[in-house]
Amino acid sequence: MSHKDDQRWFHIRVSVFSAIDSNSILPTIINRFIRSKFSALLVDEKILPEIVSGCRGWCFSLAMARLGIRVRNRLFGSVIEQEIGFFDKVKTGDITSRLTSDTTVMTDTVTLNMNIFTRNLILGVGIIVFMFKLSWRLSLLTLIAFPIVLGVSKVYGEYYRDLASKVQDALAAANNVAEEALSAIRTVRSFANEDGEKDRYRTSLHKAYKINVKQANVYAGYVWCTQLFELGLTVAVLYYGGHLVLTKTLSGGNLVSFILYQMQLGNCIDEIGEVFTGLMQAAGASEKVFEYIDREPVVKNTVKDRMDTESVIGQSEVESDKISGLIEFKNVTFAYPSRPDTNVLKNVSFTVQPGEVVALVGPSGGGKSSCINLLEHYYEPITGQILLDKKPVKEYDHKFLHTKISLVGQEPVLYARSIKDNIGYGLGSDVTIETVQQAAGMANAHEFIMEMEKQYVTEAGEKGQQLSGGQKQRIAIARALIRKPVVLLLDEATSALDSESEHVVQQAIYKNLKGRSVIIIAHRLSTVEKADRIIVIDKGCVIEEGSHSELLRNNGKYASLVQRQLLQTEDEVEDRVISLDNDGLGVGIAKRDIGLHFRSTCLITSSSWH
Ligand SMILES: Nc1ncnc2c1ncn2[C@@H]1O[C@H](COP(=O)(O)OP(=O)(O)OP(=O)(O)O)[C@@H](O)[C@H]1O
Ligand SMILES: [Mg+2]
Repeated sequence: MSHKDDQRWFHIRVSVFSAIDSNSILPTIINRFIRSKFSALLVDEKILPEIVSGCRGWCFSLAMARLGIRVRNRLFGSVIEQEIGFFDKVKTGDITSRLTSDTTVMTDTVTLNMNIFTRNLILGVGIIVFMFKLSWRLSLLTLIAFPIVLGVSKVYGEYYRDLASKVQDALAAANNVAEEALSAIRTVRSFANEDGEKDRYRTSLHKAYKINVKQANVYAGYVWCTQLFELGLTVAVLYYGGHLVLTKTLSGGNLVSFILYQMQLGNCIDEIGEVFTGLMQAAGASEKVFEYIDREPVVKNTVKDRMDTESVIGQSEVESDKISGLIEFKNVTFAYPSRPDTNVLKNVSFTVQPGEVVALVGPSGGGKSSCINLLEHYYEPITGQILLDKKPVKEYDHKFLHTKISLVGQEPVLYARSIKDNIGYGLGSDVTIETVQQAAGMANAHEFIMEMEKQYVTEAGEKGQQLSGGQKQRIAIARALIRKPVVLLLDEATSALDSESEHVVQQAIYKNLKGRSVIIIAHRLSTVEKADRIIVIDKGCVIEEGSHSELLRNNGKYASLVQRQLLQTEDEVEDRVISLDNDGLGVGIAKRDIGLHFRSTCLITSSSWH
């Protein structure tokens, strides 16, 4: 090689290596120094590499941000489409932990490590090429070690990934504890259980810590193993290299250069080992994320999901006014997926004619809300069918079905948005304030909203907690009515209202929903007795059916429920008289014997003044 070629070769080496890692030029410089041909051009040659290094960092940071957003979007998009049964089993805290912690670990470690990995891989390959150029014999000796390093890394990697996955599970469980406590802070406070919650959180975090300790031990073992191995290899190279120098097969300068390159390669392998650890951690964290992303909902929602397999009834197939609201339950047996062995509905059959108001009544836990859940297609029955206008609800497109059926649930949840946005929930930005006000008027909510300082732009607070129970219910009713549903489902929808408000709301509903089917679930006699037909459900079976007067004549379960409620009402009136005698307040303060042994004071606030 001519001096000029040699010079160029030197510059190329300096540029390439320092672009990847500025330290890697050291062996070249020393070799150069030994050969007394050190060049001052080195300083100039560092500018380009620094620019390249900056660009590399920029690309990876951007890739990291984009990857993070994509994974989170995909995960949230998939989770929100899952069937309700999925949410019965998987806790919210667990899901939010996957969305935040797991995706962060995944994307950050992957992209950061990919950066280090690419750098070290290119550097490693380059170093190996130069090592071969210096001495192929010593290079082969070095490369023999590779399969062993790979084998150790594989065992370590699998174990570490497993631990990483367990750490993420433990963190998700801890997150769930925190989420549960914070979202029910009022209950925590009312039972003064702050210390209990702190202990629960500490214990669950400690579980994660214990796995962290294991991870640290395994990591230390891996590092010791690879370091010892590297040391052994350097000794072997020195021994064999010395022999080569003595036999004049290799120059002294080249041996020093080779050993420095080998040390550099060792550093590369160390860094790749670290990267490997990081990647295994990311793999562990990504397990649940990908499990949720790839999960197919058991009860499918969208037309796209079911297009290939089943016929779907959507807006195009059925014009809105063609839905009459005929509801049929045919021999429905159902168990919740979280408790598959307990049938909560057993061979239930009933019909709601278009325009009919039907009340479902019965003891608590009898299965009334479960009927509503099936009609909403939250779950699918084990046997039997739920039909709307003679077609199974599962054949309707989810969006279409829910514009036709509106539900006011037993525990309505509002969103941390304005009252207007809450009422127009799910209708997009097209909804006008006039339609919102009209719906609020029907739900007897307009008046109290107008009395608020910010009226329709008043914030409802998280889960609507800045509003009273009755106000929340009326907004939930308005939210259901604004959609002008064909079928209205009211599950204890007016339970928190006083009789007067309830009466106003009911009148408005009946007046505006003429010709539409309504299913009311209520415990209050005053709500139930006005229904066209009453269906009594007990222990998952329909046990009685008929109008209020028919059922009273039957003298069955309904009659006994009514009788008990009437007796209760008499008791309440008595108590109220006592309380008014005592302090003249309109709140029922009742002093009663509870059982035989306790005598306690109860403060009962109730709207059920029948
Ligand atoms: N998500 C669920 N997962 C498992 N079991 C459930 C679930 N929801 C309700 N159950 C069970 O199903 C049964 C029927 O509950 P459902 O909510 O239908 O009763 P209900 O008649 O509406 O009672 P209430 O009058 O108290 O509201 C109960 O035994 C209940 O424990
Ligand atoms: Mg219920």
